[in-house]
Amino acid sequence: MTRVLSAVAWPYANGPRHIGHVAGFGVPSDVFSRYMRMAGHDVLMVSGSDEHGTPILIAADEEGLTPQALADRNHRIIAEDLAALGCTYDLYTRTTTRNHHAVVQELFLGVYENGYFVEQTTYGAISPSTGRTLPDRYIEGTCPICGADGARGDQCDNCGNQLDPADLVNPRSRINGETPEFIETQHFFLDLPALADALGEWLDGRAATGLWRPNVIRFSQNILSEIRPRAMTRDIDWGIAVPLDGWRENPTKKLYVWFDAVIGYLSASIEWARRLGEPERWRDWWNDPEALSYYFMGKDNITFHSQIWPAELLAYSGKGAKGGTPRQYGELNLPTEVVSSEFLTMEGRKFSSSKKVVIYVRDLLSRYQADAFRYFVAAAGPENQDADFTWAEFVRRTNDELVAGWGNLVNRTATLVAKNFGAIPAAGELIDADRAVLDTVAASFDTVGDLIARHRQKQAVGEAMRAVAEVNKYVSDSEPWKLKGDDQRDRLATVLHVMAQCVADLNLVLSPFLPHSANEVDRVFGGTGEVAPMPRIVEVDDLDGGPAYPIITGEYSSFPAWERRPVVVGTAVAKPSPIFRKLDPSVVEEELARLGA
Ligand code: MF3
Ligand code: ZN
Repeated sequence: MTRVLSAVAWPYANGPRHIGHVAGFGVPSDVFSRYMRMAGHDVLMVSGSDEHGTPILIAADEEGLTPQALADRNHRIIAEDLAALGCTYDLYTRTTTRNHHAVVQELFLGVYENGYFVEQTTYGAISPSTGRTLPDRYIEGTCPICGADGARGDQCDNCGNQLDPADLVNPRSRINGETPEFIETQHFFLDLPALADALGEWLDGRAATGLWRPNVIRFSQNILSEIRPRAMTRDIDWGIAVPLDGWRENPTKKLYVWFDAVIGYLSASIEWARRLGEPERWRDWWNDPEALSYYFMGKDNITFHSQIWPAELLAYSGKGAKGGTPRQYGELNLPTEVVSSEFLTMEGRKFSSSKKVVIYVRDLLSRYQADAFRYFVAAAGPENQDADFTWAEFVRRTNDELVAGWGNLVNRTATLVAKNFGAIPAAGELIDADRAVLDTVAASFDTVGDLIARHRQKQAVGEAMRAVAEVNKYVSDSEPWKLKGDDQRDRLATVLHVMAQCVADLNLVLSPFLPHSANEVDRVFGGTGEVAPMPRIVEVDDLDGGPAYPIITGEYSSFPAWERRPVVVGTAVAKPSPIFRKLDPSVVEEELARLGA
């Protein structure tokens, strides 16, 4: 048993999330976490809504809402969507809790006391016409790195690089288009060069495991060569206060959103432990060097997880060139692996809410089964290279693979058992073909499990579906529908018993991918429909007196083991209704018509 932290990227609460987002971090992290729990590990899966920073402010400005009101609304939507997808967070929280604010300030002080913050004078923008500070969010211009226009003062959405407002080429105010003036302003910079050796050593060690995806380790090592101090405070009025005299009270200087967001992994672990009533339990995942941690995200987040977050952890722990000692949280574990996926596009184009090249998670789930989407992501998602979501392919995968493959096997097995015996029959003597198919299916626990553990979900689901096809072939070859009459009754029982066992096994193997249908399949075969535990939304009080909010949590101690469970002879099986909905080809036209031109 190993302790495993599943650290899932925190979605921005500036709007509802579309399927491109959840394909990158949501489905892969849940498949992994479900499998690891079934394999007997002690998984802690945490995340939450990322509610500070520029994107929230821009969205709030546009809607005439306060940033908190906007974040409240979107946090709830995102949490409900992730729960409806079946994502088994132990805790999905948010960054506007008092707990998160306190943990972030503690991290800040640890880094500060160890000397890894340097105060530097930089240039901040002011509006020449009003003389007032122009917060980062109101400045845009051309990205100095990739040349894209429309880069913001804090980040370029085109290349994903973090920027300082003064870096922009042709900067202009989003309010009135005027060119800002830059005047001197003070900021805290994280002394990344003082942490570069420690970061490099850690990355080399990670590279030596050969486990990280090549793109991710290469990118991470590359950016190390251009390392420079980074501002961790911003001219902005929404965020976490800098916990130092003279700064705390300043309404327009806050901690940089990325400094705070990545700390969410730790603060959510602490919140989870506090809610459990065992406030020190988080340490099992953070202080024990044997514990493993996997971080799931899209590739635009790599810098923050393979450089900024480990740098914060090293600085707090006192493990950079300037030494130091940790404060109350002790020495904190660095990521075991940064599991980054590539991008998903939609009908060959970049997702864009404004151009209506988008489908939100909520809309998808109102019309299609969550498992059909989860299957698509696992089988055809952006695991190792950019991938395209098309409605035609979604319909094809659902109908030809899920419905015609797995759905058909479940359906005909249950129908034949129900019709001929009404319950799972005992097997007579097995012949070679029976043993062969049972062995193939039994072996899929190892192959599929091993692939999921190594973040090769595309291959994993492919192996599982290959086993499904083998069983379907066994059924066609055995022709149980032709086994009529008393003299064949024993053989019929044997074939149906073998089929039922294969379905039960494959149902477990597929359950990390298809948890909703796994429960339905289990029910069809006389079980209680609890082979795949589900998350739930709970309204909770803030632990430290802030306003109440919804979280995702769940009771996950009942995950079945990742191994064959012999079917119980005599368990009643009724004639089933189909588990997967076959999609009419007209879906493609309808959905394409919904997209913007
Ligand atoms: N909000 C960021 C995004 O959507 C991800 C933040 S991950 C975090 O790109 F862990 F740092 F919060
Ligand atoms: Zn750029």
